[in-house]
Amino acid sequence: MKIHHLKLLNFRNYERLEIDFENYNIIFGNNGEGKTNLIESIYVLALTKSFRGSVDKVLIMNNKDFTRIEGKVENNSLDDYKIIIKDNGKKVMINNNSIDKLSDYISKISIVLFNPDDLKIIKDTPNTRRKNLNLDISQINNSYLKNLNNYNKVLKQRNMYLKSMYYNSNKSSDYLDILTNNLIEYGIKIFDSRKKFISLINEKIIDIYRDITGLEGLNVIYKSDFDNLNKDEITNVYQSIKEKDITFGKTTVGIHHDDIIFRLGDSNIRDYGSEGQQKNAVIAYKFAVLSIFKELKGTYPIFILDDLFSELDKSKIDNILNIISDDVQTFITTTEINKVNQQIVDKSKLIEVSNDTIKEVNYSERRV
Ligand SMILES: Nc1ncnc2c1ncn2[C@@H]1O[C@H](COP(=O)(O)OP(=O)(O)OP(=O)(O)O)[C@@H](O)[C@H]1O
Ligand SMILES: [Mg+2]
Repeated sequence: MKIHHLKLLNFRNYERLEIDFENYNIIFGNNGEGKTNLIESIYVLALTKSFRGSVDKVLIMNNKDFTRIEGKVENNSLDDYKIIIKDNGKKVMINNNSIDKLSDYISKISIVLFNPDDLKIIKDTPNTRRKNLNLDISQINNSYLKNLNNYNKVLKQRNMYLKSMYYNSNKSSDYLDILTNNLIEYGIKIFDSRKKFISLINEKIIDIYRDITGLEGLNVIYKSDFDNLNKDEITNVYQSIKEKDITFGKTTVGIHHDDIIFRLGDSNIRDYGSEGQQKNAVIAYKFAVLSIFKELKGTYPIFILDDLFSELDKSKIDNILNIISDDVQTFITTTEINKVNQQIVDKSKLIEVSNDTIKEVNYSERRV
């Protein structure tokens, strides 16, 4: 997967911008100049919303009515992708044909992104880790999101029914049993997908983490209420917690409580790892996702490393850059281009960002 050309109109601090990309692209400049904005536009073109989690409106340049992002992207064929975002909605197009359902557009361009905020995957609550997991798995498994949406719908219905049972003790259990059965069926599908995905991550992450840090034993544990249980056993669990669920008015067991734990050997890296070790663990995870994509989809996604270098020492940075395969189109943003070794600089397109514009810089200019 490769984005050859990008054109922006009124996107964040860029009024107009047009650029060709190569396989390796380094975007550099001072704080607040628009490095993240540039790679964010590629992300929004692919997934129709930002990783920064804010409302779409902030993507539109101040005092403008809309923003437009256009990209020429090579997957099997070379296609023109376009997204227009207005205050009141967005519109997407492929080769100038409008796509009515965003879900038919999203993930045609696949992206793996590392952003400093991703440290949340280790530090934050299980909810953040589940969200991240959902995003990764849904990009490689088309039915995952559908199952997840169905699960969440049934979960909501079940919780409402539990509450109504609490206030009205005459209500029948039959409907609850139907909802519980549906919940279990969707839950098992999600459990299986997550379990398979984490096991693929574990096949890869230990070697990657060793290559970056020299340390052995990075592994990811998948924790789920459904672990090691077959459908009958899960049904029994729900039967045994029925009264409790009615009392609490919510479903106290299920894959909506799943979590993953990053460990170094037996230790939880959240509690024992240094900042740098945690960051490297997340980066190793991203590389593992990249390689799973290639394995399952036959092509590498676009790889974006936003602000990779802060808090990492030179040797780790070198190790990370060295394990990126030449087949992967890569975007790196940094304030410190001097931290990139010359070999990588030599093969990269260098894009300097300042004063709301970009400038392509020839590497020989950089050397003097
Ligand atoms: N909707 C918008 N309209 C105009 N300018 C915007 C808009 N949204 C953000 N900006 C500007 O974009 C700039 C931030 O850009 P960005 O986050 O890309 O910086 P950066 O180069 O990645 O910085 P850092 O090195 O600190 O990460 C800010 O100066 C901000 O004012
Ligand atoms: Mg930034």
